[in-house]
Amino acid sequence: MHPDDRDPSSDPPSLPSAQVKERRESSVTIQAGRADLIPRLAPLWMALQKHHASIAPQIERVRAFRTPEESWSVRRRQYEQWLQHGDAQALTAEQDGQAVGYAVVRIVPSGPTLQTEDRIGELVSLSVLPSSRDLGVGSRLMEEVHRWLADMGVTTLTTSVLTNNTNAFRFYKRLGMVELSVELVGTVPHRP
Ligand SMILES: CC(C)(COP(=O)(O)OP(=O)(O)OC[C@H]1O[C@@H](n2cnc3c(N)ncnc32)[C@H](O)[C@@H]1OP(=O)(O)O)[C@@H](O)C(=O)NCCC(=O)NCCS
Repeated sequence: MHPDDRDPSSDPPSLPSAQVKERRESSVTIQAGRADLIPRLAPLWMALQKHHASIAPQIERVRAFRTPEESWSVRRRQYEQWLQHGDAQALTAEQDGQAVGYAVVRIVPSGPTLQTEDRIGELVSLSVLPSSRDLGVGSRLMEEVHRWLADMGVTTLTTSVLTNNTNAFRFYKRLGMVELSVELVGTVPHRP
């Protein structure tokens, strides 16, 4: 039969976008590590810093964002400190040999405000490359973050979200998280 003679109703239906996304998502694997993973995180952190600078230009009225490279050199040093201990974990989402997303989580002393255990989880970073967003990669990383914290006996998780980062707010609220505090930044008035 000539292809043009086929009954169109017998064609397999085209996949809805959610299913296409599901297929791509399944090729992502999560790798857990510590300081060994830091060199792979640079482009992912810089994507996050670029994202932050692009969504919150009003902050630049008070302070400019660091360049992605400068920002990475600060963050890298923090990761080196945190990830040499067993109370922090790095996770990368790998696709075709490339890290397309990552999370860094650590366990920190709790504060005085909420009734929690003495040590709580802090998600210090979560970033997915722009081309891999909305495919379930961030959700997979969060599953592993939750699994690691549960294995460590931790039941509370906090994180910070930059103002205007509406996608990230929605993402975390979908995971049952609620807003806790707002961080402000300003300039100390000059004293004559
Ligand atoms: C926020 C961020 C980490 C989320 O990662 P992600 O991989 O895009 O997250 P997911 O794909 O798991 O979820 C994103 C959305 O896609 C949807 N989705 C996920 N998998 C899907 C699938 N297979 N089919 C259809 N939709 C899907 C989710 O329901 C979710 O919807 P929501 O926007 O209403 O919450 C990512 O967008 C990112 O890196 N953003 C820039 C940096 C940032 O904001 N980081 C976090 C704050 S510091």
